[in-house]
Amino acid sequence: MKIGIPKEIKNNESRVGMTPAGVFELTKNKHTVYIETNAGFGSGFFDQDYKDAGAVILNTPSEVYAAANMIVKVKEPIQAEYNLIKPHHVVFTYFHFASSSELTNAMIKTGAVCIAYETVESEDGSLPLLTPMSEVAGRMAIQQGAKYLEKPIKGRGVLLGGVPGVPPGRVLVLGAGVVGIQAAKMAAGLGAHVTIMDINMKQLRYVNDIMPNHVVTEFSSEYNIRKRITNHDLIVGGVLIKGAKAPKLITRDMLKDMRPGTVIVDVAVDQGGCVETSKPTTHEHPTFIIDDVVHYCVANMPGAVPYTSTLALTNVTLPYVMKLANLGWEKACEKDQTLAKGLNIVNGKIVYKEIEDAFNVVLN
Ligand SMILES: NC(=O)c1ccc[n+]([C@@H]2O[C@H](COP(=O)([O-])OP(=O)(O)OC[C@H]3O[C@@H](n4cnc5c(N)ncnc54)[C@H](O)[C@@H]3O)[C@@H](O)[C@H]2O)c1
Repeated sequence: MKIGIPKEIKNNESRVGMTPAGVFELTKNKHTVYIETNAGFGSGFFDQDYKDAGAVILNTPSEVYAAANMIVKVKEPIQAEYNLIKPHHVVFTYFHFASSSELTNAMIKTGAVCIAYETVESEDGSLPLLTPMSEVAGRMAIQQGAKYLEKPIKGRGVLLGGVPGVPPGRVLVLGAGVVGIQAAKMAAGLGAHVTIMDINMKQLRYVNDIMPNHVVTEFSSEYNIRKRITNHDLIVGGVLIKGAKAPKLITRDMLKDMRPGTVIVDVAVDQGGCVETSKPTTHEHPTFIIDDVVHYCVANMPGAVPYTSTLALTNVTLPYVMKLANLGWEKACEKDQTLAKGLNIVNGKIVYKEIEDAFNVVLN
């Protein structure tokens, strides 16, 4: 198959859809990979790396789209890319259709096959192509939180690990899923005292089994959260109720019970946030302050560490890219039900129920 990797052009997106290692595997299997010049630059991969791995470098996105049958990307196509997508294309990327009727209508019009990373779903309900980004965001939450706790950027002036003779900082993690566990692990590694909450006892039992003793599990309830926010320095929001908006576990009135300079990193902001005062921010302006509480609400945290994120993403996408390239999308999806769940739009028709439901009014 002919596979095209265009450079990402969405604002501040430095990841790329494939690493040189991925190109190497595909060309080894007799596929042809076309990559736009400098596509990997932001992630630390150069044209020569791709050439050495067997790719053909092309100068413009138009050339890449015209040469390929399958397009492998990171972010959803934006307006400038809509016209480049043709009916013979399979486009494999994050789409998040439910949040954009414009994108959905545009992809219906192209007549292409759109397979969305975010809905590729294993039998146990896990989302293998979303997990690595949650892992990155969970770990980053502590790195960012520790930074914003510093006084010159309006934090409490607390060093999370403490020092001999001074107790460590306290971190409250809401949600013990992928984000929560990675955040708790990083905070514990720094020596902070960690409280992690969830409503799923199975998750709490698991965390209790695997974490060191300075990570304490507690059932998530309004009562317990109100108690803990008064003496925790950093609060990480990592809750998710699948397919729904995040529950508001921290309400506006609770901010006054926190100490000035407390930092909230609301990772769940992409699902509306689990803090009432959260609103999405960008890497240029990551934080804002309400009632002396620092809010960090960047909706695409992995974008700040494109090298790690690209490797983490392509580790999990490559096996599916390989299947699609070897078998074609129809056979590949027939054989692999996990991949089949990724089919969102096929030849101008929505084939994913939740997206159809989301746009009943707009599209009918
Ligand atoms: N901002 C970013 O850049 C970024 C990056 C990756 C993921 N995310 C988001 O982070 C959120 C978490 O993702 P995840 O992969 O960890 O999800 P996950 O499903 O692995 O974990 C979510 C956890 O929240 C728990 N939960 C649900 N209701 C709760 C409540 N009332 N109190 C406490 N816990 C509760 C669930 O039981 C589950 O264990 C999602 O919204 C995801 O989209 C954001």
